[in-house]
Amino acid sequence: MVPPLNGPVLIFDSGVGGLSVVRALRERLPDAPLAYACDNAALPYGTKEDGWLVARIVMVCRAAVAASGAEVLVVACNTASTLALDALRAALPVPVVGTVPAIKPAAALTASGVIGLLATSATVCRPYTDRLIEDFATHRTVVRVAGDALVGQAEQLLATGSVNAAVIEAALAPLWRQPELDTVVLGCTHFPLLRDHFRPPRAITWVDSGAAIARRVDQVLGTPHWALTPPAMAWATDAERAGLVAACRTFGFPPPLSLLT
Ligand code: DGL
Repeated sequence: MVPPLNGPVLIFDSGVGGLSVVRALRERLPDAPLAYACDNAALPYGTKEDGWLVARIVMVCRAAVAASGAEVLVVACNTASTLALDALRAALPVPVVGTVPAIKPAAALTASGVIGLLATSATVCRPYTDRLIEDFATHRTVVRVAGDALVGQAEQLLATGSVNAAVIEAALAPLWRQPELDTVVLGCTHFPLLRDHFRPPRAITWVDSGAAIARRVDQVLGTPHWALTPPAMAWATDAERAGLVAACRTFGFPPPLSLLT
């Protein structure tokens, strides 16, 4: 008999990007209780120094796992996962599921052989990303584009309902300079939130990691049943940030509690 679970699936990101993964988790695991934690006091992660980030991510995730009593941690952040998965697995008492750019499916999906990797400046040049490309896409051309400005646009969209179309267009422009590019990996969890605001000049296949992460969480949990279903909860390192309550509410979470204070 499989023992019952008590805690939720905890989703972690620097900001609201992990909410794009919440969507995929709810589709695959509609009965799983979810909790959300973000380190928005340190947002954005994508332009910060690696050593500082590893220590920060481990500290925040340790506090969030303890506060939520999570059964499993989903690091719904490519910038954190491509850097700190080993450190998190060594430091935490629960399984850790990471999010890394979906290079493998994109390399299989492209018809032209040219794919774009749109991610933060940190993720586009990480050794982890180099290895993904070496392992799965040496027969493809991979165009790496740092789209840090899009992180702020996704935050703004969820906080206020509006975006700056010119900022989005400028961030995507380097992709469209590649005439044969037909597939784009959204290698930052903030970016799927902006999909309706992307205006590509030709048909593009967009690939994100949401469904693959949900599949992996499903595997890790096995055939779970919860002894008691804990209520949805959320935590943030800057719980007072304007617009955060609205963003959480849109995805079914209550106003976040303060983490680390
Ligand atoms: N959502 C994060 C990711 O997937 C990054 C955002 C940030 O720069 O903090 O990479």
